[in-house]
Amino acid sequence: MAIQLPLMLLIAILLLLFSSKISSETDTLTQFQPLSDGTTLVSKEGTFELGFFSPGSSTNRYLGIWFKNIPVKTIVWVANRDNPIKSNTNNTNTKLTITKDGNLVLLTVNDTVHWTTNATEKSFNAVAQLLDTGNLVLIDEKDNNSQNYLWQSFDYPTDTLLPGMKIGWEVATGLNRYLTSWNNWEDPSSGHFAYGVARSNIPEMQIWNGSSVFYRSGPWSGFRFSATPTLKRRSLVNINFVDTTEESYYQLFPRNRSLVIRTVVNQTVFALQRFIWDEVTQNWKLDLLIPRDDFCGYNQCGSFGFCTEKDNSSVCGCLRGFEPKSPQNRGAKNSTHQGCVQSSKSWMCREKNIDGFVKMSNMKVADTNTSWMNRSMTIEECKEKCWENCSCTAYANSDITESGSGFSGCILWFSDLLDLRQFPDGGQDLYVRVDISQIDKDAKDGSKIAVVVVASIVPSIIAILVFTFFYRRSKTKFRSKVIIKTKGKINESEEEDLELPLFDFETIAFATSDFSSDNMLGQGGFGPVYKGTLPDGHNIAVKRLSDTSAQGLDEFKNEVIFCSKLQHRNLVKVLGYCIEEQEKLLIYEYMHNKSLNFFLFDTSQSKLLDWSKRLNIISGIARGLLYLHQDSRLRIIHRDLKSSNILLDDDMNPKISDFGIARVCRGDIIEGNTSRVVGTYGYMAPEYAIGGLFSIKSDVYSFGVILLEVLSGKKNKGFSFSSQNYNLIAHAWWCWKECSPMEFIDTCLRDSYIQSEALRYIHIGLLCVQHQPNDRPNMTAVVTMLTSESALPHPKKPIFFLERVLVEEDFGQNMYNQTNEVTMSEMQPR
Ligand SMILES: *[C@@H]1O[C@H](CO)[C@@H](O)[C@H](O)[C@H]1NC(C)=O
Ligand SMILES: *[C@@H]1O[C@H](CO)[C@@H](O)[C@H](O)[C@H]1NC(C)=O
Ligand SMILES: *[C@@H]1O[C@H](CO)[C@@H](O)[C@H](O)[C@H]1NC(C)=O
Ligand SMILES: *[C@@H]1O[C@H](CO)[C@@H](O)[C@H](O)[C@H]1NC(C)=O
Ligand SMILES: *[C@@H]1O[C@H](CO)[C@@H](O)[C@H](O)[C@H]1NC(C)=O
Ligand SMILES: *[C@@H]1O[C@H](CO)[C@@H](O)[C@H](O)[C@H]1NC(C)=O
Ligand SMILES: *[C@@H]1O[C@H](CO)[C@@H](O)[C@H](O)[C@H]1NC(C)=O
Ligand SMILES: *[C@@H]1O[C@H](CO)[C@@H](O)[C@H](O)[C@H]1NC(C)=O
Ligand SMILES: *[C@@H]1O[C@H](CO)[C@@H](O)[C@H](O)[C@H]1NC(C)=O
Ligand SMILES: *[C@@H]1O[C@H](CO)[C@@H](O)[C@H](O)[C@H]1NC(C)=O
Ligand SMILES: *[C@@H]1O[C@H](CO)[C@@H](O)[C@H](O)[C@H]1NC(C)=O
Ligand SMILES: *[C@@H]1O[C@H](CO)[C@@H](O)[C@H](O)[C@H]1NC(C)=O
Repeated sequence: MAIQLPLMLLIAILLLLFSSKISSETDTLTQFQPLSDGTTLVSKEGTFELGFFSPGSSTNRYLGIWFKNIPVKTIVWVANRDNPIKSNTNNTNTKLTITKDGNLVLLTVNDTVHWTTNATEKSFNAVAQLLDTGNLVLIDEKDNNSQNYLWQSFDYPTDTLLPGMKIGWEVATGLNRYLTSWNNWEDPSSGHFAYGVARSNIPEMQIWNGSSVFYRSGPWSGFRFSATPTLKRRSLVNINFVDTTEESYYQLFPRNRSLVIRTVVNQTVFALQRFIWDEVTQNWKLDLLIPRDDFCGYNQCGSFGFCTEKDNSSVCGCLRGFEPKSPQNRGAKNSTHQGCVQSSKSWMCREKNIDGFVKMSNMKVADTNTSWMNRSMTIEECKEKCWENCSCTAYANSDITESGSGFSGCILWFSDLLDLRQFPDGGQDLYVRVDISQIDKDAKDGSKIAVVVVASIVPSIIAILVFTFFYRRSKTKFRSKVIIKTKGKINESEEEDLELPLFDFETIAFATSDFSSDNMLGQGGFGPVYKGTLPDGHNIAVKRLSDTSAQGLDEFKNEVIFCSKLQHRNLVKVLGYCIEEQEKLLIYEYMHNKSLNFFLFDTSQSKLLDWSKRLNIISGIARGLLYLHQDSRLRIIHRDLKSSNILLDDDMNPKISDFGIARVCRGDIIEGNTSRVVGTYGYMAPEYAIGGLFSIKSDVYSFGVILLEVLSGKKNKGFSFSSQNYNLIAHAWWCWKECSPMEFIDTCLRDSYIQSEALRYIHIGLLCVQHQPNDRPNMTAVVTMLTSESALPHPKKPIFFLERVLVEEDFGQNMYNQTNEVTMSEMQPR
């Protein structure tokens, strides 16, 4: 007896443990442990729950999955949507179980099957697991690999798309995953509204109402759909659209993993809705609605017609060279619903140069059901191909980027153009084939809608291309000639060609992998700089300006456009900009060879810069600076000239970066005295560092420092690097005085430098770093000194007291990990 008591206790405890194990949350269902009504499976991290529910006021029972940790019960998947368990059914026998051959079945009284998985592969060790993605998977216990799921609910979606889930086709299995709406909020049975990937040569997303198309997204064009308008703000999701011969699908992921997000096709509102859970209001917030508006339904304006939205209604028009089909509608603006026909009846299809193409901008391109695509053709080849075939009605690029540059690929249409829409922004260019007489007529009419006659601009495009090609390829001499030639008439040329592209934030975020730290090139004075790759493969550098400016957006934009007009071969080219809410981005050409400091202060890299390259770099910087100071329309003081701001192109030509940004961000200060000092110790002129006084002469000082650094390969650290106040300038002074440039010049140049040149350059450097601004030459004089052999004035002895003062400054948090040069941007808070 005495032994029995503890034994019973043990059994009781074991039983308790066992039973608590059953009732506690589990994510796995086995053959021996069916799920009955009233119990649930909960995914490992408690994100999703699987169980039985009754929607709204309905008393029918359904097996479904919902968010576990969200107070508003939101069903994301229903198993038996079309075969509910009726309210009069005895619930006691309702269970979800796994059959011996490894299928999930939903059984009620008398083992009536309400729903089952049809896994093609049989398994005797199948278990079902609810994953934290919301995916219910059937797996073989022995083969727990996501590639080998026996079955998964993500392959049989109901009305909700969850992150990671694929919508689309798989050719091998014939599987087509698409969303089907609920009939209404309390009836999950399959509605007649569906969302999926249309299966054609050129896949796109479509919404269907029954068997008819309700909405088309337009083809995927690299990283968005053709019909997507330019996004006004930063999207919260990344879209993955895959189109191969094996499969084509759409997938999305939140940028921030902690975002709870769902996309639903909703028959009540005739739309696709994307919701994001709002922690603050504890409710779902609508993030996206497709279609965006009720205007311009599918093919509303018929073939060769196009639809626009105006004053809250849809307006139809006919493409150039077409007129309304039904005669009584001629002249009526809105009544081309039956579509349009060619205006000149006689026109059939002739030949090159007799047919032409008109460009329609901002278009959602036509239905691609009968189209043809080649992603590697250029637009010129595309046009040729369209011209060759009489039945080709239009062509367009298949890949576009938001920036408007880097188009590629080709789509051809061989039938009536259906479902065209024109947007105020977004969309893409579409070239429609018309009779050339029509184009001439339009040109004479001086029609309002901008129509570009492609035929007539081709020669000029070629001319521009050829010019650009040679301009880019040709050696330095040719390029400087071009600059000189255009200098006189810079005002004229500025007017035409300086349309600076406005980049979309999305594009840039995508290009820089969401400003990932891996892509960070460095930290400049006004914000970090990232490397990016546009969808067309072009590399860019992106400066993300920290929001220190009180400027309005228009002012900023004007300043950026202004910067883009500063074009000189020794200035980094501004390619575009982006403004969105708090974000201000500048997009530059990307320089493969990084910056000057990278080469100068690295013992292995510095060997790549021989004597003549160094002199070339110095004179390049001087010319760039001269342009900023004198030749550009407005005098620009750089204020933060330093070796890390000098970038090098493939041929080691220097390009000044960050110019004008000082002006952009501190637009009110052009010249004079400032309480806030922008600059970098070691490069700042004394009057600027101490008194905040700046002028073109403070830039000259910085130039002098860079010159000395280029010659010596050493940094002018700004602080004394030995116990005496002995810095690079002092060293230069001493070497020049003693006439021993050998001591000063970078050791790796000892075999290649020319003594007289070295002395002269050190001399010029010393002239530039003189203490009194008035003693320093201006850049015109510097350029002359560098290029001629004229006699030079005697430099005054530099004063080296600066360092003591500056050492007192508190640098605070130093987040500039790339270099130990710190650009001071704010000494005093606003
Ligand atoms: C449901 O079925 C169980 C067993 O099959 C039975 O014991 C129970 O009485 C039934 N309940 C109702 C309400 O019919
Ligand atoms: C279950 O089976 C029994 C006997 O075959 C039958 O009498 C009963 O009506 C069945 N119940 C249901 C709900 O089908
Ligand atoms: C399973 O297959 C049967 C017959 O092929 C079919 O009627 C049923 O709809 C399928 N069920 C599912 C969930 O696919
Ligand atoms: C399958 O593997 C994953 C990761 O290895 C694990 O989290 C999960 O619990 C496994 N599932 C089963 C049923 O063993
Ligand atoms: C459809 O959207 C409306 C409005 O947002 C909402 O009230 C309704 O519950 C949705 N229906 C379904 C089935 O989600
Ligand atoms: C969807 O199709 C049905 C039947 O063809 C039609 O009655 C209904 O108006 C359509 N709905 C929309 C929003 O077009
Ligand atoms: C993601 O969202 C959470 C909650 O909204 C926020 O705390 C976190 O900072 C975000 N993470 C990133 C990288 O933005
Ligand atoms: C269009 O509709 C919106 C909202 O219904 C309204 O605020 C706006 O004034 C309308 N615009 C025109 C031009 O009718
Ligand atoms: C379009 O034209 C029809 C008749 O031709 C007219 O009844 C209708 O009001 C017009 N719609 C608009 C928006 O002008
Ligand atoms: C393409 O057009 C053909 C003929 O008009 C039609 O049968 C087919 O369903 C269409 N395909 C798609 C994906 O719309
Ligand atoms: C696509 O265009 C490229 C370039 O013109 C050509 O080399 C290739 O053969 C084309 N592919 C097809 C399938 O036509
Ligand atoms: C023109 O294109 C159509 C559709 O691709 C094709 O059927 C026809 O053979 C082509 N004609 C010529 C002359 O290439």
